[in-house]
Amino acid sequence: MAEIEINHLNKFFGRSQVIRDMSLTIESRSFTVIVGPSGCGKSTLLRMVAGLEKIDSGQIKIAGNVVNNLPPKDRGIAMVFQSYALYPHMTVFNNMAFGLKLEKKTKSEIKTRVNDVARILQIEDLLNRKPKQLSGGQRQRVAIGRAITRNPKVFLFDEPLSNLDAALRVATRIEIAKLHDSIPDATMVYVTHDQVEAMTLATKIVVLSEGQIEQIGSPLELYERPNNLFVAKFIGSPAMNIIPVSISKTGKDSEAKVTEEIRLALNYNIQNKDMNKKFNLGVRPENLVLAKKPDNSIRAKISLVESLGEYALVYAQIVGGHLSQNILVKIPGNPLIEKGQEVFFQLEKGKEHLFTEEGTRYISANK
Ligand SMILES: Nc1ncnc2c1ncn2[C@@H]1O[C@H](COP(=O)(O)OP(=O)(O)O)[C@@H](O)[C@H]1O
Ligand SMILES: [Mg+2]
Repeated sequence: MAEIEINHLNKFFGRSQVIRDMSLTIESRSFTVIVGPSGCGKSTLLRMVAGLEKIDSGQIKIAGNVVNNLPPKDRGIAMVFQSYALYPHMTVFNNMAFGLKLEKKTKSEIKTRVNDVARILQIEDLLNRKPKQLSGGQRQRVAIGRAITRNPKVFLFDEPLSNLDAALRVATRIEIAKLHDSIPDATMVYVTHDQVEAMTLATKIVVLSEGQIEQIGSPLELYERPNNLFVAKFIGSPAMNIIPVSISKTGKDSEAKVTEEIRLALNYNIQNKDMNKKFNLGVRPENLVLAKKPDNSIRAKISLVESLGEYALVYAQIVGGHLSQNILVKIPGNPLIEKGQEVFFQLEKGKEHLFTEEGTRYISANK
């Protein structure tokens, strides 16, 4: 059981604060993915958990023990980096055995352990090779193997797939997911800037921005109920459309005004005090559908259709209003529409997201 508890953690580099009063509990045996744009502090956070970076203030506990002053080797963790950091002059076997030798395990124990792990990762044939004789994907598997052999309670992964090409990334991602199944007692913390990796691997996702937590939840919770515009735009691909609107009807039959001509019924119970206020209407590309009638729909002019066979991505511009507002719509199959045409799109009922002008989710009274 290795829960990680982070309490009021702060970290500065010079004057710039990289981690801001962060508190977070990572449940034992979870696969927690920390996701956020480049530079938001993901690696710094992971390195503090590993003991590779000094903490300015706050506390980190692993399995109930405060580890602030413990050296990395005593924390019961193993870390896998983006750069594989293998020893170039050692064979795969010796790379994987290195940590066990330091722990003074016997030769036969080491041999059994390395062979067991090599079997899990399907690298048994590579044990006598040197790292330079391996492909990128194989090197990454060896790096993961080296982490597993020491049987850590906690695995820390820092963007382990970003040096791999697209096909290998997907294959290795699936292997990492299986790895979690095959060592279910381990707690895995995985850092990435790639929301697809986060959505596919995580039991729980922590979204970071500028050293702060924006939201924590399961992949579907974040997708279906983003707390704010940052999460709304970050999770989901292609990204959610954000359309500035004002409220033109309150109560249970509320309505948003996009332009003078375009009014959309909302599935929110909106308070009277919010009449005429500005809001941001969020709609995912897959939640807009082609409609025949102009009422309760967005009139838009098609600017580009990308047909991918299974679905089409339709880029369009809302007609009317003084600002040019682009939208992206994902339509299943092969829609018979083309560039230059004007069409109507309706919101799938109940699938819209309403955010205040400041960007927080609007909490509807019961509807
Ligand atoms: N050793 C360092 N010295 C100074 N600034 C650093 C150092 N490491 C990281 N930073 C800065 O801290 C911020 C967060 O970095 P990092 O944790 O690497 O982000 P991420 O992993 O999310 O891309 C960035 O602005 C980065 O430039
Ligand atoms: Mg990083």
